[in-house]
Amino acid sequence: MPERVVIVEDDRELREFLAEILEDAGYDVQPFATADAALRALSDGDAEEPADVVVTDLVMPGMRGQELLRELRVRRPELNVIVITAFGSIDSAIELVKAGAYDYLTKPLGADELVLAVQRALADSRLRREVARLSRAGTAAPPGIVAASRPMQEIFQLLSRAAQSRHPVLITGESGTGKELIAREIHRASGRGDFVAINCAALPENLLESELFGHERGAFTGADREKPGLFEAAHGGTLFLDEVAELPLPLQPKLLRALEQGEVRRVGSTKARAVDARIVAATNRDLEAETQDGRFRDDLFWRLNVLHIHVPPLRERPADIPLLAEHFLARAAVEGGAPHAPRGISAEAMGLLTAYPWPGNVRELRNAIERAATLARTDEIRAEDLPPRIREAGWSASLVADATGRGLSLRELERAYIAEVLRQTGGNKSRAAEILGLDRKTLYRKLAESRGEEAGG
Ligand SMILES: Nc1ncnc2c1ncn2[C@@H]1O[C@H](COP(=O)(O)OP(=O)(O)OP(=O)(O)O)[C@@H](O)[C@H]1O
Ligand SMILES: [Mg+2]
Repeated sequence: MPERVVIVEDDRELREFLAEILEDAGYDVQPFATADAALRALSDGDAEEPADVVVTDLVMPGMRGQELLRELRVRRPELNVIVITAFGSIDSAIELVKAGAYDYLTKPLGADELVLAVQRALADSRLRREVARLSRAGTAAPPGIVAASRPMQEIFQLLSRAAQSRHPVLITGESGTGKELIAREIHRASGRGDFVAINCAALPENLLESELFGHERGAFTGADREKPGLFEAAHGGTLFLDEVAELPLPLQPKLLRALEQGEVRRVGSTKARAVDARIVAATNRDLEAETQDGRFRDDLFWRLNVLHIHVPPLRERPADIPLLAEHFLARAAVEGGAPHAPRGISAEAMGLLTAYPWPGNVRELRNAIERAATLARTDEIRAEDLPPRIREAGWSASLVADATGRGLSLRELERAYIAEVLRQTGGNKSRAAEILGLDRKTLYRKLAESRGEEAGG
């Protein structure tokens, strides 16, 4: 269904020009000559196909653009309004954006500029509709985290409990499941000061120590001035220890002391400094197993693990896949990386996305959608726009399910497949051999064999 754009423009020539551009771009355009008429139509709550975006001129006889904007903010707050202003009236343009206009365009207007602004406004309203739908669905998803599956709803509850507590939180889960996103959300919801992050795998032991705890002047070669550590920087805020399993063993008692006593010593100093940093740690390893293997201190593990949030891999919560896919698609359009980003995902492509096991989790899904959005040549993402590994996983899953369901032997499966490829190539054996990855002689032999088998019973 084409998306609907309302145009409000008193000048007939300009109105027709705008309508033509947007119709050519595939939108369903509803033109009005006055703001009053547009407002009446838009206020009609029962309208079958509500508009998604309004493009309005500013200076018109009767009700002016500003007034229309003001009325629409009240009556249809979800609508995005793009205002057309005369060249040079930038001050009033800024006023308009403050008054709630989504965007403004200055005359003379370029076709591309208009289409791009409408695309962005539409992508933005889709994103907001999706957020509204999720909150109606009763999921308490915090802003920026897209999920509706059962396991994620349980995480949202843990998350709000964690935000109110001062105890350390340990977040575990495979790479790309959203651990950092959740850490940031705990911090945001806690209302504490700064969020300070450090990746424990990124630095060698001595640098990591002075990063975390700071150092005095002259503590080691190159320490030509004193430097407070990240613990001190996170005072009153949150310290995020990413990949905490990689924290070198000699530093672990120092971290433990900081957690237990609430104080740190800079490298080269004997003075203890009190710090109040809330600790959130994350790892994609099984930290308890690391303690059994002696790579992580038991006492530190228990200290960090007061509150534990495990983020399940995406394959264990397929209900989140369509939501996440739509979310990343809408974002690709808003962020303008792909100005002609498709607006939807075909049913076949969505089926493949949902069936794929996503070893790289949400990060892999995001990359796949962003790539598909730039490759897609129609207004939706289709199966062929997806990375080959995802398409192939889908085919083999359905093919194998079908074959095992029928109790086919490998021989029979091969024969059926060869026959299907031949049918699709219209009997062209060279083409079929190429698709099958066989040389022609081998294909002829296989065909002769299967004829023999059929003849022989
Ligand atoms: N539920 C979600 N909603 C929206 N975006 C998400 C969600 N989960 C993950 N993402 C996005 O996926 C990407 C990977 O997430 P993040 O960096 O938090 O993963 P991670 O678990 O910390 O991975 P790693 O272990 O590799 O560090 C980010 O771009 C993040 O914004
Ligand atoms: Mg991370």
